This record gives sequence, C-alpha cells and structure tokens, in this order.
Amino acid sequence: MKTILLIHGPNLNLLGSRDQEQYGSLTLADLEKLVEVRAAMRGYTVRAFQSNHEGELIDWIQKNSPDACGIIINPGALAHYSYALHDAIVDTRLPCIEVHLSDIHAREAWRAQSVFAPACITQISGKKEKGYEEAVEALMNFLHHLDRNDTKRYDPNE
Ligand code: DQA
Repeated sequence: MKTILLIHGPNLNLLGSRDQEQYGSLTLADLEKLVEVRAAMRGYTVRAFQSNHEGELIDWIQKNSPDACGIIINPGALAHYSYALHDAIVDTRLPCIEVHLSDIHAREAWRAQSVFAPACITQISGKKEKGYEEAVEALMNFLHHLDRNDTKRYDPNE
C-alpha cells in the first residue's frame, strides 16, 4: 500500500473551536477523514500526525518518511519561521504540498511569508477544507506522473 503522510503543526489540534471565519468548522479528525477517503479511492493509505512541538514533528517525519511516497503538511505558524522543519521535509526527498486553511496572503504581513514554499511542489492557501481535497488530488496526480516515469524519489533541487 502506498502511504501519504498528513502532518499538522501547532494549534491545529484545536480546529473546530479555533476562529471558524479563518479556519472553517471542521475538526482535525474531520479533515483527516476527508483526505483518507479521497486517498483510498486511488489506492493510497494516509498516516496522520499532529504535534504542537517542532522537534516531535521532525522526529516523526524522519521515522515515517522512508516508506512513504508523499507529504501533505499544514505547518501552522511554523510555516513562517521553521527552517528546521523545512530541512526535515527537504531531507525526505519526497514530494510535498503545503496547505493552509486560511489565506495567509490576506492576513497579517508576517503570515504571508512561508519558509516551506521552496521545499514544496505547491502551496494551497485560503480554501479551508477544499484545500485539503485539492492537495491530496494534486499529490496523487504528481505521484502518478512519477510512477509513469519510473522515478522512485522526487528531488526538489533537480
Ligand atoms: C494556518 C495559518 C497559520 O498562519 C496559522 O498560524 C495557523 C493555521 C492555516 O491553516 O491557515 O495555525 O496554517
């Protein structure tokens, strides 16, 4: 079974009770289910993880990436400053999609910058739960294209 890693950073465990105007009304479990169902339709399994701690996220990525084929990550506020988490993503050599529920380009100036963008195939922002559906479809399309070209690993620097 091909495995997609679905990763959530700080405070995203509180989805459902956070600012619904920005983040929508779904809980983290709801979002995970949404992605799981779409992935299963195309033969992928999803391994999900959330942590409020940068180091825990990095440890989990290092442990879980070797047998995975791609990553969807909402790094939360870590998107704006965590070079360590950025490096952990790059080191997996897996294709990664960055998702934000809110539109990070239409809020405070400090949110508009993501240090993850260079490590990701694309960034989806401001589409609430629809962004997750778009992300999983885009990742599976990308992986399908890689399979067809018989490439095992994606190198963002190539
Ligand atoms: C977020 C946007 C971040 O700026 C914020 O810190 C979050 C959630 C989003 O999904 O819109 O916690 O990543």
